Amino acid sequence: MRKLVVFAAGLLTTPILGALSAWVYFGQGRFDIAATAPVSEGEERAAVFVRERSLARRAPKGSNPGPVNEETLAEGLVHYRANCLACHGAPGLPQPAIGQGLNPPAPNLALADTQGRTDGALFWITSHGFRMTGMPGFASTHEPEDVWKMVSFVRHLPKITDAERERLRAGLPRDDEEPPAHAPAGAGGVK
Ligand code: HEC
Repeated sequence: MRKLVVFAAGLLTTPILGALSAWVYFGQGRFDIAATAPVSEGEERAAVFVRERSLARRAPKGSNPGPVNEETLAEGLVHYRANCLACHGAPGLPQPAIGQGLNPPAPNLALADTQGRTDGALFWITSHGFRMTGMPGFASTHEPEDVWKMVSFVRHLPKITDAERERLRAGLPRDDEEPPAHAPAGAGGVK
């Protein structure tokens, strides 16, 4: 009987203690939400574990239905430049500040970590993104065949030509341009 009472007391107090410590930590603003705050090893491991398990369950099997040729790669480049470059950059180009400032940062997609993923995984990630990381999903704005073209271009990233690099460079976000001359007063300019 006594054991039962202790067990019941334990059952009751554990959630109360849990809620209390969550309040002390989260409710009192101790958790640092800053993107610039370092991430603990435990948090990182937990996030990667959840991400990889979720991805393994959802990513389609099979490879790129293609075709992959000069034309589709050129289209893939245009989509990549408009939708991915500002965060992920590209080999041989300066890493954009946006991608560096995210937490987790936007990885270089030409590296083995990404290139080692299956076509299905790349397709799923590009279609649906990763919640709460900054990685957007493009399924609601792009047809599957265009997503596959982006995937083809991601696969092509490690061996982009100089001409392709220059086409990408033109789409890099720039913050070293001269600002336009002041709009005349009353023309809707910011005061
Ligand atoms: C607003 C910034 C942003 C944009 C735009 C963006 N991404 Fe990402 N992407 C991220 C971040 C951040 C991660 C890392 C998420 C993580 O570590 O869990 C990521 C991860 C990925 C990964 C997984 C990398 C790996 O190996 O784990 C792929 C693939 C990817 N992005 C492809 C794309 C493609 C293709 C586009 C354009 C169609 C794109 N991303 C656009 C921010 C972005």
